[in-house]
Amino acid sequence: MIVTIDGPAGAGKSTVARQLARRLGFRFLDTGAMYRAVACGALRAGVDLQDAATLVHLAETLRVEFQPESIMVSGEDVTDFIRSSDVTAAVHFAADQPAVRQHLVKLQRQLAADADVVSEGRDQGTVAFPDAECKLYLSASPRERARRRMLEMERRGEPVNLDDLQQQLCDRDQRDATRQVGRLHKAADAIEVNTDGLTSDQVVDRLEEIVRSRQSGARTRA
Ligand code: DC
Repeated sequence: MIVTIDGPAGAGKSTVARQLARRLGFRFLDTGAMYRAVACGALRAGVDLQDAATLVHLAETLRVEFQPESIMVSGEDVTDFIRSSDVTAAVHFAADQPAVRQHLVKLQRQLAADADVVSEGRDQGTVAFPDAECKLYLSASPRERARRRMLEMERRGEPVNLDDLQQQLCDRDQRDATRQVGRLHKAADAIEVNTDGLTSDQVVDRLEEIVRSRQSGARTRA
């Protein structure tokens, strides 16, 4: 079974998608981390982020390993670095490139082949897995999303200003919603869950309930 979770930055997707996958015993695909890994590789190699051909080459040749609690890029542990503000500021160069997206979507489909997965990102229910059995879309108000991101960054020792963060999130929303390929939008058949005021456990409970009812619906129909 494929479960997709899409939504804007800071809606709490990564945390709950990871927990949901664990509860269901499914593989977890953090697709944002793939775009971040390409940006990280480009920053480390000091290449021109505007050079599409170089970015595509990097995407095709980088060795990205997803381990349960860490991400390795070409043998180096980049778990913290890919979430840093440097990578966050650079990641759109990778995400805006149609050929990079095409390659990463292919990889996502390979990773999901013959497996039960929870796949989280922006275009999972619309582009990568349009036939997914269960599509979820997480939303939250800009303030709540900025607050969550701030806590996350403070935990990593990166102090930030809430208003600045909210502005950056709105800029990313705009970019995510207007990119030529793979833009963020809710699939017509996705179920939207607004996470304002909910703890991550409460969100996971709600998502698990939706997935389990889909699973039992599928069993009844079979
Ligand atoms: O979810 P995140 O913040 O880790 O995502 C990093 C960037 O990658 C973000 O700018 C949106 C982009 N992205 C995307 O375009 N498509 C995806 N499936 C996942 C992320």
